[in-house]
Amino acid sequence: MIIKISLVCLLAAALSYAAKISSPYQQTDISKIGSQKDIFGFLAGSAPYFSYPGNTSIPVTPPPQCKLQQVQLFARHGERYPSKDVGKAINQTFAKLESYNSSFKGPLKFLNDYQFFLPNSDNLELETTHDNSLNPNNPYLGMTDAQKHGLEFLAEYGDWIANTTNSTNFTAFTSSSRRVHDTAVYFLEALGNRFNFDLQIVPETPQSGANTLVPKFGCPAWGPVNRDIVNSFGNGFLNDITNRLQDANPGLDINATDAHNLFDWCAFEINARGYSEICDVFTREELINYSYQQDLNTYYSDFVGNPLAKAIGSVLFNATMTLLKQSEELDQRVWLSFTHDNDILNYLSAVGLFDDKRNLTGKGVPFQDQTFRRSWVVPMGARVYAQKYECTSNNNTVSSFVRYVVNDVVIPFDDCQSGPGFSCPFAEFLERGENRIKGINFAKECNTSSVSNVTSLTFYWDYKEKNYDAPLLLQ
Ligand SMILES: *[C@@H]1O[C@H](CO)[C@@H](O)[C@H](O)[C@H]1NC(C)=O
Ligand SMILES: *[C@@H]1O[C@H](CO)[C@@H](O)[C@H](O)[C@H]1NC(C)=O
Ligand SMILES: *[C@@H]1O[C@H](CO)[C@@H](O)[C@H](O)[C@H]1NC(C)=O
Ligand SMILES: *[C@@H]1O[C@H](CO)[C@@H](O)[C@H](O)[C@H]1NC(C)=O
Ligand SMILES: *[C@@H]1O[C@H](CO)[C@@H](O)[C@H](O)[C@H]1NC(C)=O
Ligand SMILES: *[C@@H]1O[C@H](CO)[C@@H](O)[C@H](O)[C@H]1NC(C)=O
Ligand SMILES: *[C@@H]1O[C@H](CO)[C@@H](O)[C@H](O)[C@H]1NC(C)=O
Ligand SMILES: *[C@@H]1O[C@H](CO)[C@@H](O)[C@H](O)[C@H]1NC(C)=O
Ligand SMILES: *[C@@H]1O[C@H](CO)[C@@H](O)[C@H](O)[C@H]1NC(C)=O
Ligand SMILES: *[C@@H]1O[C@H](CO)[C@@H](O)[C@H](O)[C@H]1NC(C)=O
Ligand SMILES: *[C@@H]1O[C@H](CO)[C@@H](O)[C@H](O)[C@H]1NC(C)=O
Repeated sequence: MIIKISLVCLLAAALSYAAKISSPYQQTDISKIGSQKDIFGFLAGSAPYFSYPGNTSIPVTPPPQCKLQQVQLFARHGERYPSKDVGKAINQTFAKLESYNSSFKGPLKFLNDYQFFLPNSDNLELETTHDNSLNPNNPYLGMTDAQKHGLEFLAEYGDWIANTTNSTNFTAFTSSSRRVHDTAVYFLEALGNRFNFDLQIVPETPQSGANTLVPKFGCPAWGPVNRDIVNSFGNGFLNDITNRLQDANPGLDINATDAHNLFDWCAFEINARGYSEICDVFTREELINYSYQQDLNTYYSDFVGNPLAKAIGSVLFNATMTLLKQSEELDQRVWLSFTHDNDILNYLSAVGLFDDKRNLTGKGVPFQDQTFRRSWVVPMGARVYAQKYECTSNNNTVSSFVRYVVNDVVIPFDDCQSGPGFSCPFAEFLERGENRIKGINFAKECNTSSVSNVTSLTFYWDYKEKNYDAPLLLQ
């Protein structure tokens, strides 16, 4: 009898194990879903969206004596699965863990009863949605984030668009990456029946040169710089993780590269499942170190520490300035564009926000002197708005101003904020902006001619004739 029972138990155990292997769904503790918000800011922009933590407390709605003239948005796609490269790296690390012969102890104990979040490569590069989520309770779907953003946009700007523009029809722009396109569609559909939109799909290919939302692809000369500075920060914290996991699990075959991959695993599993137990492997100190290492790396690859970041970003910033100048001539007053994180970072390098006065170094975390944090600026679903408004002063003169709203928070320019709502007087904004990109020649510095002969961005002005409808790419 006893034997029979334990056989049944064994069978049941074997069956439930088989069931777990065959299905990517996991009965994750519901109470854990949504409980990891406090680590999103350390995961280098791969974790779900959160508002900019450095709240300036300046109201996002322009002051009452002002009325909006134009709004521009550059938005990142929403929460997603890893890219092909990152997926492969995480998979390799998982394979090494899977080959461990004993049962796991210590922080990896959860792996004894765990279903990997990337059972195959089907979802790589894609937005997380109801259809591909690993848990129906996952609140961090890229799809929901984009819909929520659309509703927030509607609340902030919907009446203004309906009342002050000629029609509720407008054109929006997306790069030709599938997840970017999907984000745009979820956002736009959330605006409801009150608005009609047309979505132009602008190709993100090297051949597009400057006429794209992803000018980095038209910049073959681009590459990360100052690797010596980045490497000088060291991988000590990654070795600490490796050693700790090996101490608990003797013979475990992992190294610093795997420890690094665990951070990506953590972030992307949250996007897919709403919760990731691998995140619990890290100490708070390790999260801080990882976060800074990624900031440092980004600073010298896609942000102001790399001179080409500004050159690439000048393409979109130049378009921003031209559109702002034309705010009273163009029918359309709202310019919504959807793209990737690096393009937004390049753009902000040209705009000159979060532009540290002091270069980041590998000497340690500059706790009291760090303006640029990758995860704060470009989390999944990041949104950078430029607002142009005109205000009536006490002596009844009317003048225009510009300011930026990054991830729900007004971020004034340190060197230009004398206008209402800490905005920058429009003439000064243009002068400042033109100075920042003066002398920059994107096509020349980027060696664009080796991939494309397109040296200027035209899609905001010629979309009616050209009708951009590029095939979607899984990238
Ligand atoms: C920032 O602070 C203001 C004023 O306290 C508040 O109204 C607003 O909701 C805050 N924004 C965010 C993103 O937390
Ligand atoms: C697992 O055990 C097998 C057989 O004993 C051995 O050949 C293999 O090297 C072990 N693998 C690891 C990762 O310890
Ligand atoms: C991970 O590797 C396994 C075995 O090689 C493969 O079947 C699976 O598709 C891979 N998954 C990803 C996400 O690459
Ligand atoms: C707005 O869009 C609708 C549907 O696409 C179209 O029927 C209508 O003519 C458009 N109105 C204007 C003013 O462009
Ligand atoms: C620029 O393009 C030319 C022609 O393709 C190539 O020979 C050269 O190495 C490139 N230079 C840089 C800096 O990428
Ligand atoms: C942070 O990382 C650096 C470089 O790897 C290392 O020297 C330092 O000990 C780490 N600090 C902590 C608190 O883990
Ligand atoms: C860690 O191991 C992988 C192979 O699994 C290897 O490709 C990688 O270079 C190793 N990393 C380090 C830092 O040794
Ligand atoms: C607004 O629409 C009307 C009629 O559809 C048209 O005559 C007028 O030129 C439009 N104004 C602007 C600024 O587009
Ligand atoms: C930052 O580094 C760049 C070169 O990478 C250099 O041109 C610039 O002067 C440095 N800025 C400061 C404030 O040290
Ligand atoms: C740009 O290159 C394409 C093919 O690469 C060619 O068909 C086109 O004529 C060129 N345009 C200009 C303005 O040189
Ligand atoms: C910058 O904008 C001007 C118009 O203001 C345009 O002539 C020029 O081609 C633009 N440069 C790029 C690289 O698109």
